[in-house]
Amino acid sequence: MANRIPDELIDQIREANNIVDVISEHVQLKRAGGNFKGPCPFHQEKTPSFNVNPARQIYHCFGCGVGGNVITFLMEYEKIGFMDALRELAHRAGITLPDRGSDRTGAEDDPAVVANQMALAFYRSCLDGEGGAEARDYVKERDLGPDVVSTFAIGYAPAGWDNLLSAARRKGIATSALLGAGLIVERDGGGFYDRFRQRLIFPLLSSGNRAIGFGGRAFGDQEPKYLNSPETRLYRKGYYLYGLSQARQAIRLSREAILVEGYMDLLSLYQVGFHNVVASAGTALTNEQGRTIAKYADKVFIAYDGDKAGILAATRAAETLIQLGLKVRVAAFPDGADPDSYVREFGPDALRDLLTSSQDFIDFYVSLNPTDSPDDREGAARSLIETVVGIEDSLKAELMLEKIATALSLRPAVVARVYERRRAERQLRGRAAGRARGGEEKQIHGRTSGDIRHGEAADRDTTGAHYAAQKGLLGLLLAGGEGAEYVRSHISASEFTNPDIRTLVERILAGSTSESQVDIAALIDPEDDSVPAVLLTELTVSESSQRDGSRLCDDYIGVIRKTQIEGRIRDVDKEIRAAELTGDERRATEAVVRRQELAQELSALSSDR
Ligand code: GTP
Ligand code: MN
Repeated sequence: MANRIPDELIDQIREANNIVDVISEHVQLKRAGGNFKGPCPFHQEKTPSFNVNPARQIYHCFGCGVGGNVITFLMEYEKIGFMDALRELAHRAGITLPDRGSDRTGAEDDPAVVANQMALAFYRSCLDGEGGAEARDYVKERDLGPDVVSTFAIGYAPAGWDNLLSAARRKGIATSALLGAGLIVERDGGGFYDRFRQRLIFPLLSSGNRAIGFGGRAFGDQEPKYLNSPETRLYRKGYYLYGLSQARQAIRLSREAILVEGYMDLLSLYQVGFHNVVASAGTALTNEQGRTIAKYADKVFIAYDGDKAGILAATRAAETLIQLGLKVRVAAFPDGADPDSYVREFGPDALRDLLTSSQDFIDFYVSLNPTDSPDDREGAARSLIETVVGIEDSLKAELMLEKIATALSLRPAVVARVYERRRAERQLRGRAAGRARGGEEKQIHGRTSGDIRHGEAADRDTTGAHYAAQKGLLGLLLAGGEGAEYVRSHISASEFTNPDIRTLVERILAGSTSESQVDIAALIDPEDDSVPAVLLTELTVSESSQRDGSRLCDDYIGVIRKTQIEGRIRDVDKEIRAAELTGDERRATEAVVRRQELAQELSALSSDR
């Protein structure tokens, strides 16, 4: 078995390929100051906003927000996987990769990965092979053209108990690897059989386009209609979005995603030109899936089945997405229709109209639930308010409350009062849970910082001075020199609340010393989505400020400390309100005193500067 490509070799290959030379083979670059500029190959544009920085060996486009190093460039430009890009660059630089010619990839000393890749190739070849007529007929019957079949690597698991098993044995793949990947199942009486038999196969591809699992559709009425890989170390159902690897770029560019329930819905839509589509496939939409969507989109069109179950699932999904701060529209399909059947019957234009005219969540909810009697209105109001309680952005929450009042003909003040009470209760529960978890509260300035985290959505907000300050500090760290040194000694990683920025700051502080500039191209890991590469490249390519680093740093830190105190004041205000609601005099008084202290701290901070 091949060894994993060592990191040092990856670094060596990256360093042997000058990014300006590689990109110049595909893009007309012109020098502009310290950078090179050209028309972005990843989106249509008139004025060039695609930058390449030779000193730091990275690229960044301010138009469409892509960025990375020479490896990710090739991956995105040629739509190839990590290993293929690496192979190409190695070849270009005359470096020999171990075990050339084999299609094993970097992470593939992992037996489950090897097994999945082998199965992917096997199922693909079966669809094209002699015995594949049944599957090809089914593909035709469902109107799947050759382009989607190839883009989504659709395959066929033939009838029979051990087709995959025998093929794997011939390739020397261990039974334990197949078992670990969930591709075979152990028999009661001993021995094994293929999990997927006589099904159309939808590979679950990772962002690097490797199979991490499979879904299989029966050709007729066999049960179950869909069969999925079990959860494995590679495939975690609640985290996976089907189609994301193909849709990512389209979602990123439009900031809009279409969310469907099923494999077939997704493929049908993709085929007629809706490329920004993802499916939760086989699970109710989870928070984690929602968060992944929120990384690329601001707005989600929910396109679920028009039946009762679909409407209920759409309601739940909408609630989840709204609470993550996304704009949500819910498309209403006729009962009995799903996006796949709808687009096949009425065509893409009709679907586009349906999406454009889709309702926002409150209208959708009110149109579905009876609101004639006072009881009905109360029920609807309470349920909708509950959703708003989970929204961190107060402006968004406020606007929704207004809509709820209008839609249900309630006085806004009443809606607001119920909301405030539920919000206070939630806050208290959250705080109690936080105390129970313990440990997480860190000392900052002699006070606990547990109150700083006033909500995930606020942490993710990328507008406003607080985010700008965090980004500014990250920029100083990346630039190196005295500014970076000053940042290191004046603020800790835990004070950054934006998760992306914090990840980067933690890595930078852990991985390098202050003397040298951070090696950004090395920090970008094409195989690890959790490193927000674009943020790195953006900050690096941007013209650095001429202002004095320590002054700049002080200003940024001032904003951050101010935000921390304001967050604590907000929490104390809620505490005061909650204490008053429950008539707890003592707690209310204590909270009022604490509020005064915080207000003083805040004004001291402002007068310092
Ligand atoms: P078609 O009937 O092929 O058009 O599929 P569909 O997507 O219209 O099916 P449906 O609306 O019934 O299901 C939506 C999604 O739920 C599917 O794509 C699967 O991911 C999942 N699903 C449906 N049926 C089953 C099942 O029997 N078992 C499992 N595990 N998942 C299922
Ligand atoms: Mn269907």
